[in-house]
Amino acid sequence: MPLRKLLAAIVLFLATAAAAQSPQPVPQFRTVGDARQLFVNNHPFLILGGELANSSSSSLRYMQPIWPRLKLLNLNTVLVPISWEMIEPEEGRFDFAVTDGLLEGARRNGLHIVALWFGSWKNSMSSYVPAWVKRDERRFPRAQAADGTTLEMLSAFSLANEDADARAFAALMRHLRQVDPQRTVLMVQVENEIGMIPSARDHSELSNAAFAKQVPTVLVPKGKAGGTWAQVFGSDADERFMAWNDARYTERVAAAGKAEYPLPMYVNAALAQRGALAGQYPSGGPLPHLFDIWRAGAPSIDMLSPDIYFPNFVEWARKYAVPGNPLFVPEASRAGQEEESSNAFFAFGALNAIGFSPFSIDSISTEGQPLGQAYAMLGGMTQLIVQAQQRGTIRGFRPPVAFNGTIDETPAAATLGGHRFNVSFIDPWTPRDQQHIASHGGLVLQCGPDEFLFAGSGITITFAPADGAGYDGIESAWEGRFEQGQWKPRRLLNGDETHQGRHVRLPPDRFSIQRVRLYRYH
Ligand code: DGJ
Repeated sequence: MPLRKLLAAIVLFLATAAAAQSPQPVPQFRTVGDARQLFVNNHPFLILGGELANSSSSSLRYMQPIWPRLKLLNLNTVLVPISWEMIEPEEGRFDFAVTDGLLEGARRNGLHIVALWFGSWKNSMSSYVPAWVKRDERRFPRAQAADGTTLEMLSAFSLANEDADARAFAALMRHLRQVDPQRTVLMVQVENEIGMIPSARDHSELSNAAFAKQVPTVLVPKGKAGGTWAQVFGSDADERFMAWNDARYTERVAAAGKAEYPLPMYVNAALAQRGALAGQYPSGGPLPHLFDIWRAGAPSIDMLSPDIYFPNFVEWARKYAVPGNPLFVPEASRAGQEEESSNAFFAFGALNAIGFSPFSIDSISTEGQPLGQAYAMLGGMTQLIVQAQQRGTIRGFRPPVAFNGTIDETPAAATLGGHRFNVSFIDPWTPRDQQHIASHGGLVLQCGPDEFLFAGSGITITFAPADGAGYDGIESAWEGRFEQGQWKPRRLLNGDETHQGRHVRLPPDRFSIQRVRLYRYH
């Protein structure tokens, strides 16, 4: 080989090796225009996710056949429990073999990970703490119920508990920083569904002492009159006291982790049934009525997220998509529910969600799975969706469902780009008894002047000029798909497919995309 060519080859080799070594930027939240988004490698990212069943990630062998199935479902991210008992079997001795294997498995299958830190609490309980913590009750005190029963739950009022958890979490984050320059791990959930049950607050000695000390002085949210906490909040005092102290504990753990590796962090909430009392649901968790306390108490937490198992997805999702708190649904019911895809379209299209993830994703088959088809479609459109979220040029639709399961079939209305859309969830050409209305939904985004992309299933859209002058007609409606982000038109729809120009219809038996150009006539 001539010298010049040899030198060029060496330079190229060194440059490629350097690029492979140089770490990607740390994932972070940024606000751009109307949207607060998760940036991965400097680009806004949508988590098309699923959460593993609780015990799957304890074994690399068990996980082996699961990874490719997640890929077949078109996930780009998997939510993976990493537990305290798994990484610190003896105090101060850390073992990251399984953690590293999980990262490897994800990378081999082109997936990202959201790590779930099952530390002091998992669904209120402390079953995931290591044996050396479980067995040393004196050093690591437990919470107590109002009747004095000791619970298998670390007390949030013990510094020893907090220190031990923070040390372990910091070790995990330090390790991730060292072994994950390629940013396989995008975010971390700190603890899991924090909150006190069956009483509204911990009644251990430590907690009682804190209650006596804090209640007269503790933070009173803006707008409330002064006074003792109990006077201000009445019967809510116990729950708000618990929320504040859970938030402070979580802050200590999260801040210790962030000091090692500042990945975005969030906490997830077990939601409360209407009318339920604190303690019947996990009291003090990051619920909407406690947002002020969680934000003040845990500033290192970037996001408060709902686990939505109730049918009224729309209502709960709206409560969490509030200014400064991007919507991420880490547990969007159990995987395999027929309405999960319409929930995903609604979350991304109506509420600028950064991610969506049904629970126990490894328990469903990959064959003909609606979620997989919806994710394929959303994955192909990601670039357009995140841009439209920033510009405020996207809308999402699904029929709201009440807590008792009643579906509100009223058509939805939206205005975008000078046009008013009427979105019906009842398909005109399918017998009513064959329609699963709750699974119908989709999104529309503007992709040019008078030009829109409609994506979803089981919705029919009619149009009118927003200013009321004249009528909207369809200039063209192309059915097509996105391949690697590129639009590939397939059929020009007209005739029966558009009801002779009267509507755009996304049939209920599949997911489809149409690129539609409108015009005005008088
Ligand atoms: C909510 C928890 O966060 C999950 O880990 C899991 O236990 C589910 N409940 C079970 O439905």
